[in-house]
Amino acid sequence: MRHFITTEDWTRSELQALIDRAKTFRKDPAGNALQGRSVALLFFNPSLRTRTSFEVGIHQLGGQAIILQPGKDAWPIEFELGTKMDGETEEHVKEAAGVLSRYVDMIAIRAFPKFENWQEDRQDKVIRAFEKYASVPVINMETVTHPCQELALMMAIQKNVGNPDGKKFLLTWTYHPRPLNTAVANSALMIAAKFGMEVTLLCPNEDYLLDPRYMKAAESYAMAEGRTITVTHDIEQAYAGARMVYAKSWGALPYFGRWQDEKPIREAHQHFIVDEQKMAMTDNACFSHCLPLRRNVKATDGVVESENSLVLEEAENRLHVQKALMEELMKSRAS
Ligand code: CP
Repeated sequence: MRHFITTEDWTRSELQALIDRAKTFRKDPAGNALQGRSVALLFFNPSLRTRTSFEVGIHQLGGQAIILQPGKDAWPIEFELGTKMDGETEEHVKEAAGVLSRYVDMIAIRAFPKFENWQEDRQDKVIRAFEKYASVPVINMETVTHPCQELALMMAIQKNVGNPDGKKFLLTWTYHPRPLNTAVANSALMIAAKFGMEVTLLCPNEDYLLDPRYMKAAESYAMAEGRTITVTHDIEQAYAGARMVYAKSWGALPYFGRWQDEKPIREAHQHFIVDEQKMAMTDNACFSHCLPLRRNVKATDGVVESENSLVLEEAENRLHVQKALMEELMKSRAS
């Protein structure tokens, strides 16, 4: 039985097989892999795309989605071991995961960092606990990585940029008024490197580098493909020759828990917005973002609505790739 917690556990060819199956779902949405089956979708954080695409995808595969929001419409869950539960939590993940495993055939989890202590958050304790205590496949719907978004992005790249091998992929940090999760940035870096792209990471300074785990993973994928990961703080150098520009905002890891100190740095880099002038420096690059996106903060209206913008296509791809993934995980459960 397999889980989909991080694409680090899946090879390039396994991920390509999911994308290839997703391409067939795009043409012909019907499937029966979840006929008579149920999938629990646990949301510890809000969502528009993830919730809708999973719910619709499960329906299209003949199954039933059970949406749960622990702490809202389901009991708050405890994750610490051996703790005296005399606070807010009402049941332990051991029971929550064990009980759900007796009702449903897969469990999908969205659990963002708490943004107070990165050393704590980077352990991804919520989804790792479900992986440990559930007896059905567990899917990551965004924690400290966003692997479903990775598949959707690579599917969009392959359709619009062509064979990714050797093409320049720019991951650019952008301003946002709040410090955001590094999950999509971690994921974008890893999937572009794993698929042989020449990756450039543009960010304001060294404090905005991603966690070493993901930087190193991307570097090892790049090395295996004969490519490189370039880090730069120079906008012109970053955009020059890019075939794909991917925008994301994130909070600087050294400032977790003291965001007031980071705020002035973030605000001093509002000019990292993706605009028409920067896109003109590229090799007619496509643009994308995982969404939701604050217009004219992260990217201008003109870039988001340009014919090179893949934002809606990437969002649509979430539906197709997740169906391919659930079908594959059901097969892994049977074998
Ligand atoms: N991209 C993405 O995961 O969107 P939601 O947060 O709306 O699910």
